[in-house]
Amino acid sequence: MARQQLQDAQPPSQGLRAGGFAGRWFGCVHLGENPQTADHIVDRFCGRIQGFPLTQPRVVLPTSVHSIHILDIQPHKGEMDNPNQHGGRIALVTGAASGIGLQIAQDLAQQGATVCIVDRNGPAAEQAAQGIRQAGGQAEALVLDLADAEAIQRAMAALGQRFPRVDILINNAGVVSTQPHDQVSLAQWNTTLAINLTAPMLLTQAVLPGMKRQRWGRIVNVSSISGVRAGTGRLAYGSSKAALIAMTAQFAIELGEHGITVNAIAPGFVDTPMIRTLHGSSKASTYLDVCPMHRFCSPAEVSAAALFFASEQASFVTGQTLGVDGGYLASGLYMRQLFDIPAATAPAA
Ligand SMILES: NC(=O)c1ccc[n+]([C@@H]2O[C@H](COP(=O)([O-])OP(=O)(O)OC[C@H]3O[C@@H](n4cnc5c(N)ncnc54)[C@H](O)[C@@H]3O)[C@@H](O)[C@H]2O)c1
Repeated sequence: MARQQLQDAQPPSQGLRAGGFAGRWFGCVHLGENPQTADHIVDRFCGRIQGFPLTQPRVVLPTSVHSIHILDIQPHKGEMDNPNQHGGRIALVTGAASGIGLQIAQDLAQQGATVCIVDRNGPAAEQAAQGIRQAGGQAEALVLDLADAEAIQRAMAALGQRFPRVDILINNAGVVSTQPHDQVSLAQWNTTLAINLTAPMLLTQAVLPGMKRQRWGRIVNVSSISGVRAGTGRLAYGSSKAALIAMTAQFAIELGEHGITVNAIAPGFVDTPMIRTLHGSSKASTYLDVCPMHRFCSPAEVSAAALFFASEQASFVTGQTLGVDGGYLASGLYMRQLFDIPAATAPAA
């Protein structure tokens, strides 16, 4: 490959999420007289391969040699290259008919799990399960309104007729609405807490006996940056998501000795129907301004974190909340305007 071709080459951007491939990938690295160019190309090719350390990050050739080297990029032994990582596992994913939950369900199924798609939207849940089956995976829909505590308990009591156990529980379903603090009705408050907090608690309690018996289990709660930082109009939502983070730690410390891990994810602004319905495109620029990466998160990026927590590799990780937020939670006095940096310098999505 000529130097120009190499510099023009696009990094592989799709299909390289952690766990999304088996075997080896190769990056072409030009190592000539300009080490900066080589660095740049390494970054362009390898920066996108999340979670995979390079076994051989740099090959140093005499600077006079104008050549191309094939860099062998391999996952560490036994790491997330296993396309059957969750083979034989049974996963229950709530809110899996749409957005983040749908992506997590698809990704788990792709890695071999049998997925129970829980959602109140029956047709969408059936469609999601069918889509997974058509792609060669295993999935079934369970239509359930998570606002109804008694319905949850009935459904979980009957779940054994369809699934022998639940190995992985992803408490993803959630609802959001924004109101000024003095306009939050008791009904809105109760519904938000019922779906975002009480349902995860009940589902967790329901799957625990089976997980304890087998001394293995993974529970992942999808919280939000709003559970860590207050947000305008998010009295009910933010409170429910903060409590979900607290609940994650509560369960985690009592379940560690049973081989069960419990972790939470705090996504930033994710491009899903939820965020589009909530604010519409007119508010998008406000979000993008306060996010250091200046773009929406993709459902796939949240799913990658969920699949990590659900994996064998995360066996000693529990009680944690991971921000998948483009740097939002890390930022305090975040003022791009301070240096008059034009928006064009922001990295592309
Ligand atoms: N989209 C974001 O920007 C964002 C940011 C942070 C956190 N989150 C969290 O991620 C999770 C998923 O959000 P999303 O953006 O994918 O939303 P979404 O609206 O695209 O999907 C949510 C799914 O949950 C289901 N659901 C809602 N209420 C339910 C109920 N009572 N019973 C059963 N199913 C129910 C819906 O039918 C839908 O399929 C939520 O917990 C949300 O709070 C989202």
